[in-house]
Amino acid sequence: MVRRIHHVGIVVEELTRAYGFYRDTLGLPLLKEVEIKDQGVRVALLAAREGEIELLEPVQAGTGVARFLEKRGEGLHHLCFETEDVDASLRSLKASGVALIDETPRDGLAGRIGFLHPRACAGVLVELATPVNGSHSATSPLRLKRVVIGSHDPKETAQIFQRLFALPEQGMNGGPRTMLSVGRGALLLVPADEVGGMEGMVALSVVAEDLTAVGERLRNAGAAILSGAGELTVEPRSSHGVHLHISRFE
Ligand code: CO
Repeated sequence: MVRRIHHVGIVVEELTRAYGFYRDTLGLPLLKEVEIKDQGVRVALLAAREGEIELLEPVQAGTGVARFLEKRGEGLHHLCFETEDVDASLRSLKASGVALIDETPRDGLAGRIGFLHPRACAGVLVELATPVNGSHSATSPLRLKRVVIGSHDPKETAQIFQRLFALPEQGMNGGPRTMLSVGRGALLLVPADEVGGMEGMVALSVVAEDLTAVGERLRNAGAAILSGAGELTVEPRSSHGVHLHISRFE
């Protein structure tokens, strides 16, 4: 049912400031910016190879995104899976009694979209999208690789995602972590106590075609980063609330 991670949604205070990091420092091309009036947000899509990063700025008090920003600050907000037929996907989820925010799809920035209720997916807000104009053709220095999800019971959370979206499990040699494939990307479910007790989306991993160049741009921009072997981690204060791992490995 699910083909790939279409995008991850990140709530920010101001799009223009977030462009300083995501577009200018990371180098992700801006595909479009639109105000979605009935949702009270300005939304921007940036290309991350065949996937996308969606930035959301609340422009109206009292909306879901405005409340999220007030309560949690900037950071990872939702996860969007591409599905071949969002109408059919929502119908079948509804028929199995899954809690939905949108029972029928509506027009969104990513195409025809619909949101599941976070209580359906272990506290993670999941969007389904069927792009209407195919995928974008922009080239981008980074590719979405993995979304890390903290959970008090990673096995149970994995089963929920498997049941809802038929995601295959990748072998992890035992241990408390579980990895589910989503196209070329993955969801990594980790015990909450490994990630400071946090539940829900806690980090994003991307692959860089040229890690040295990305690292140099980050250093020149004064971003707070930790360097490891073949990997960089950008601290959330420099990346609008997102724990961002950038690796040279697929
Ligand atoms: Co979205």
